Amino acid sequence: MASMVSVVGAGFSCGGLGLKPSRAGGAGPTQWRQTSAVVVVRAEAINPEIRKTEEKVVDSVVVSELSKPLTAYCRCWRSGTFPLCDGSHVKHNKATGDNVGPLLLKKPKE
Ligand code: FES
Repeated sequence: MASMVSVVGAGFSCGGLGLKPSRAGGAGPTQWRQTSAVVVVRAEAINPEIRKTEEKVVDSVVVSELSKPLTAYCRCWRSGTFPLCDGSHVKHNKATGDNVGPLLLKKPKE
């Protein structure tokens, strides 16, 4: 069922909202007829709780100074040991159908 929206003023664009102008009523303000559903996409935070008081979470690593030959860094933002991966991505992937995994840093051979 189409709905009607009254628009008062100039410069209003409804192209992206699936609305078309309708003059069926004659004189008066332009009526807009909805021709399709409007999909509203809201951005959500990726980081649920890690270091939220910081403006930006940034970590740097000197690869040659890694303590182990291979170190896994979290990319799912669910690790309890962030920035290191603790395997929490497995639970996240099962719950959401996502496919995230860690960044593996290899210490160069000396
Ligand atoms: Fe986040 Fe492993 S816990 S990638």
